[in-house]
Formats: sequence, structure tokens, C-alpha cells
Amino acid sequence: MSATQKHIALNVDAIRKDFPILNREVNGKPLIYFDNAATSQTPQQVIDVIVDYYSNYNANIHRGVHALSQEATDAYEQARIKIQKHFNAKHVHEIIYTSGTTHGINLVANGFSSLLKKGDEVIVSALEHHSNIVPWQMLCERTGATLKVIPMNANGELVLSEYDALLNKNTKLVFVNHISNALGTINPIKSIIEKAHAVGAAVLVDGAQSCPHIRPDVQALDVDFYVCSAHKICGPTGVGMLYGKEEWLKKLPPYQGGGEMIAEVSFEKTTYAGLPHKFEAGTPNVCGGIAFGAALDYMNSIGFDTIANYENELLVYATKQLEQIEGLKIYGTAKEKTSVISFNVGNIHPYDIGTILDKMGIAVRTGHHCAQPIMDYYKIPGTIRASFMFYNTKEEIDTFITALKKAVIMLS
Ligand code: ALA
Repeated sequence: MSATQKHIALNVDAIRKDFPILNREVNGKPLIYFDNAATSQTPQQVIDVIVDYYSNYNANIHRGVHALSQEATDAYEQARIKIQKHFNAKHVHEIIYTSGTTHGINLVANGFSSLLKKGDEVIVSALEHHSNIVPWQMLCERTGATLKVIPMNANGELVLSEYDALLNKNTKLVFVNHISNALGTINPIKSIIEKAHAVGAAVLVDGAQSCPHIRPDVQALDVDFYVCSAHKICGPTGVGMLYGKEEWLKKLPPYQGGGEMIAEVSFEKTTYAGLPHKFEAGTPNVCGGIAFGAALDYMNSIGFDTIANYENELLVYATKQLEQIEGLKIYGTAKEKTSVISFNVGNIHPYDIGTILDKMGIAVRTGHHCAQPIMDYYKIPGTIRASFMFYNTKEEIDTFITALKKAVIMLS
């Protein structure tokens, strides 16, 4: 298929009409939104679902006999089934609603407190977001387990021969992201999982950055835990999911206590609900869960192959133009990468470039991207990060390149 055919297949002009925010101006200029790795924008189809919920059937779930509560419960549980199907989980009760990726990771890290002991080892990768480092450090402090790190190379790829050397019979857990938020590297998680399983270790994959671009099949990956956030996938903030294999979720103790997660409560003894409710204490983000399902419907109506092909075109197109700017260095040049470009120009501070781009209506992220170990590896304080989604265009990239060149002249 030629590049042009892929572009036509996506029909980006029609897609852009779904996103009301793309019509607004920032600082008197049309918004160019290149901060998609931080959060994606929301299509009208998902906004409508949110408005419908609060306009017509807002209620607490699993509690009332009344009609609104039934409708809300049905819609929330239907969305859970959509999430199950999307990720190809074997059972619907393997899908736990969370407030987002960080919540899912903390839930698992907390659960392993009672399963690890001194002498056990856990492995993290050098490419992680702080949310896939700190909860495990806290777990190690609680249990006496040791944290080991798979190193990275200058391209921003994991050094897998070093991973092989770290694995041994004491390894109990491995946590790695599917795609690096700071560099866009796609990690070879299938092989990482297989190797961990060969020594009897479980694997948690942070899918926050992969889920907007690819459709993971948790059974084909044979992953033990997979986490993501709806807001990266055209859904709302404050909701996400933890997939866990049934056998693991049964083994882990509840994370939080409260309503919904119990079977019976007395002062002498409380028993817990079965899966998935054991991990869902308190009133959940009902509307968020329903809108998460709608967001997956929306993304699937476009198709993840189409999305990935088009975003790769944007990546290649932008990379070629950026490489021609004198003094510009791209961090993260992995062979397998998604539509995230981190870069600096000469000694100009990323924040200064980001501020000038914002004046021109262009949203990028600057800083360490919650991935300080990566910045330490490159010995830099941070980068400018442009991250694209399927609703971005080559014309927007052209405008961004022109604006960037102007910013560099102003700051040199
Ligand atoms: N984790 C998000 C990012 O990378 C917030 O920008």
C-alpha cells in the first residue's frame, strides 16, 4: 500500500471534524496539538456519551433497585466487556477498573508486599516513567527485595543481553513499558515476557503509551498484568484499567478497603467480594468507565492498523524535517518506535523553545517527562517532545517546523 493510499484510508479531514477542540485558537493562532503522549483529545462521540450519562442516567451502581441505578450499572458493566474484548482477556473479571495507569501499578505493587521477601529480586527497565519505578522501589523497601535495572543504549533501546544476565531463580517480577513515553521506543515485550516466565517471574507491562497506537492481545502476549489509562486513548481522565490473569488476581490481597469490595462485614470478620469487585472499593468513576468503552469503540471504528500506519507516516515525515535543522539532536532513535519525537537544539533550554512554540499556538511537552533516569543517561535536564496522534496532519508538522526554526533564531 502506498503512503498516499494509507492517508486516504484514514480520511484525516473527516476525523478532525470529530474533535471540537481542534477548531480553537491559542494565542490567536490555530491550535496545533502535539502533546498527545501526555493526554489525547476527546472526540464528540465520547463527549456525547459523557453528556448523555449526566443528563439522563447518573446514578450509583450495584446499589439501587431503581431504574437509573440499573441503567448505570448495565452501561458500566457493558463497557467492562468492551474493554475485555478489546484487550482479548479470557474473562471479564480479569478487567479491573482503576483511576489510571499509576493506580493499576500501585495496586499490583501493593499486592506483592505479602508475596515477596528478602533475597527476592525484581527487574525494571531504564526506560520507565516514574510511575513504573517508584511503586516498585517502595515495594522493595517494604519487603527487602532488590531492584535491578535493564540498561538502555544510546538509541534508547533496552540492552536485552543484560536482561538475560539479570534473570535468575530469585527474580519474581519484571516491569517494563510497552512504549517509552519519553523516547517512543517500542519494547520487545513478547520476548521479555517469555524470558521472565522461563525463570518463573511474573511481568507487568505499562501500556499507557502503547494503547493509543496498537491493540494489545493480552492472551497472545501471555502477560500477567497490563495497565493503561483511558485519557491516552481518546477517553476521559480519571479512569483506566488493570488486566490481571485470574490466577494472579486471586492471589493478590485487596488494595483498598471499603464498600463494593466486600462479601460480608462484621466486627469479628470481613470477607471479600470475588473478582473484579475485590479491587474496586468505593464509588467508581461510573461515567468514566462508560466513556472508556465509547473511546475504544471510536478507536476501533478507525482501526488500529490504519492508525499505526498513518502515525508512522507522520513520524517519518517530521523526523526527516527535524534532522535538517542545524544543531538539533533527536533522543530516541530506536528501530521500533512510535510517533513520539524528543529533541533539543544546541544548548537552548527546552522550556524556552516550548514557551515560544506555545505563543505560536503549538502545544508540545518540555522537561524530563517523568523519566529522569533517561535524562540522566543522556546527561541532559530534559527535551522538547512532540507526540502525534491520528488527527494530526503533515500541514501541522510543516507549520511546527517553521515555528521551531523561528524560535531557534530568536533564542540563538
Ligand atoms: N505520562 C505522561 C507523559 O508522558 C503524562 O507526558
